[in-house]
Amino acid sequence: MNRRIAVLISGRGSNLQSIIGAAAAGQLNATVAVVVSNRPGAQGLARARDAGIDALFLNPKDHPDRDAYDRAIVDVLKARDVTLVCLAGFMRLVGPPLLEAFPQRILNIHPSLLPSFRGLDAQRQALEHGVRVTGATVHLVTSALDDGPIVVQAAAPVYDDDTVETLSARILIEEHRLYPEAIRLVLDGGWTVEGRRFVRR
Ligand code: GAR
Repeated sequence: MNRRIAVLISGRGSNLQSIIGAAAAGQLNATVAVVVSNRPGAQGLARARDAGIDALFLNPKDHPDRDAYDRAIVDVLKARDVTLVCLAGFMRLVGPPLLEAFPQRILNIHPSLLPSFRGLDAQRQALEHGVRVTGATVHLVTSALDDGPIVVQAAAPVYDDDTVETLSARILIEEHRLYPEAIRLVLDGGWTVEGRRFVRR
């Protein structure tokens, strides 16, 4: 496996920034070959360009359906010889064309300890449920939402006076540490998937 990665985003791109930063600091031996956003104004696009990284807005409206859009993403990634795809706040479901082009080679970061609080607003779900501990998860992407084999997780406490904003900020600190670590693990190899478990040999 080469060490060329793509990062797919929809917005702020702070996880993208942590990946770029880890690579620049020599803590992550990987090249961010391209950044793709499904939204034109994503702050992450500017972050990528500031770092000299090829950054593209691909408009879903230019494609007749989700599969066609996913195929367009695959074409962009294959043209840049990418081996690992990192979803970082990419707020779209990934369909069969992408999953089949990159089997066990798509990662996602989610702001909860999966399998708790899948889907949107995971931090709000955690607060409303009243859990005392939540956190962040990086997992391999499968066709089921927020459900693939778990690569790494980190916990964050929930305090009585937390708001969605304060809890999200605490989780985000863990995310920024976790995502480069997960990418390193996956790129280094020596792992397999057994059932739904990510197993290091
Ligand atoms: C992150 O908290 C990430 O875990 C979450 O979106 C945020 C993106 O922030 N992703 C999801 O909720 C996916 N279901 P960022 O754009 O600053 O990296």
